[in-house]
Amino acid sequence: MKPRIHRHHYTMMAALGLGWALFAHFTWTPGLLREPEVWGFFALTVLAEALPVELPRGRGTVSVSFPIIFAASIVFGPAVGFFVGSFGTLSLRQLSGVVPWQGVVLNRLQLGLAGGLSGLVFRAVATPGAGAIAPWVALILGGATYFLVNAGSVALMLSLLYRIPLWSFVRTTMLGPMGSYLGLIPITYVMVAAYESVGFLGLALFFLPLLVARHSFQMYNAIRRSYDDMVAALADALEARDAYTAGHAQRVGEIAMGLGRALHLSEDRLELVGLAGLLHDIGKIAVPDRILNKKTALSRAERAVMRRHPLIGHGIVRHIKFLEDGVRWVRHHHEEWDGTGYPDGLVGESIPLGARIISIADSIDAMLSDRPYRMARRLTQAAEELARHSGRQYDPRLVEAFLRLCGDRRFVNETLRQPAPLAPKDVERLIALARESASRAEAAAGAELEPAPPRPKRYRVKRVRYVLTRRIQPGSGVKVFGEPSGERRG
Ligand SMILES: [Fe+2]
Repeated sequence: MKPRIHRHHYTMMAALGLGWALFAHFTWTPGLLREPEVWGFFALTVLAEALPVELPRGRGTVSVSFPIIFAASIVFGPAVGFFVGSFGTLSLRQLSGVVPWQGVVLNRLQLGLAGGLSGLVFRAVATPGAGAIAPWVALILGGATYFLVNAGSVALMLSLLYRIPLWSFVRTTMLGPMGSYLGLIPITYVMVAAYESVGFLGLALFFLPLLVARHSFQMYNAIRRSYDDMVAALADALEARDAYTAGHAQRVGEIAMGLGRALHLSEDRLELVGLAGLLHDIGKIAVPDRILNKKTALSRAERAVMRRHPLIGHGIVRHIKFLEDGVRWVRHHHEEWDGTGYPDGLVGESIPLGARIISIADSIDAMLSDRPYRMARRLTQAAEELARHSGRQYDPRLVEAFLRLCGDRRFVNETLRQPAPLAPKDVERLIALARESASRAEAAAGAELEPAPPRPKRYRVKRVRYVLTRRIQPGSGVKVFGEPSGERRG
């Protein structure tokens, strides 16, 4: 599927295009491409781009062309680095039309500028007579410039597209890969030294370490993919037993990620919340079929069996090392904000954030899906149910964030798979309702903590009788909604 083009693509294209044109205007001189070695660097870049490494979870590809382009920029000057970066990085995939033309152009502009500016910075720092340390400083600064222009423009684009603070993407898309880029700087040095002492053949020989680096990337991705496959297989194993919840785990993972994105979680946490969402009910694998697939209300004993699934799930996923905090989220996805949930009866913010997010995603998907005992609810009804239980079952802050998302057409269509978002006035009405519910729940919880009033005494003939009175707070201890009576049966 082709990625969607947004107006921000054009804004970025105009900004980078202006920089690209200015760079070409001030640095390009005729005859730069006459040397055959320039075309040797160009060919190696094309080769590196033809052997890209796929990033996990379909997030695109990376290539190891950076040290080649940077080396070309150092050896022949910024204009050649600019040329090789702009056009040597064109891959067959891009030319075949799989990538929209806007993406192809953006890539050319950002890589051309990265290649050219890195050489410019190198030459400015490593001037003759600047000392023995200068070439290394110049290499690091030049490499950092390449990285800043390339990854920085990607981070800026993602930040505009997803309306998430730039810092969040800088942390996830820039700080992580920066180590890999810096690690490739010595290879740039070796390539330049080999070219200067042996010529192009020496350079071609040093292409070999890049192929080794590529192989390591591939191995890492293969391991990540097998982890993902294992998680998906676990989730499928559960869903194979219950036709009515087909796709539920997948959707819970997606909704949880959407809500997490609205809360500005980092990409790493989002990935984790998606995986934990996928696995949240895995403990139901130990619940007998007659209970799991029962079409009528569960008895007390059956409910007790069903309520063991978060603990069983925790026992299963705690062996998955890369799930990290997600293991606790699986355990606590049935905890409730007021402490009436299970298995540990955690209260408020002592419930891990990931578990609170999954709890909302789980309830919403359950309400929006058909069940054997009822039809799916409409989005307005589901959102209203959620608002009514803000501050009792759900974290009020997350409820509000979710209600705002219900007004976002893209989230509603693509993630909730609902035909239309809520109107702004409905979103505001539901937020007001959620706030009211949350303050009522808070008041009730506060009242429960007050000391009990003194017991009134009544006197009858020769007999003292104590009448015990007990204040019953609205909502306290009385399950009105949802789990385990209705939407979330376990
Ligand atoms: Fe569950």
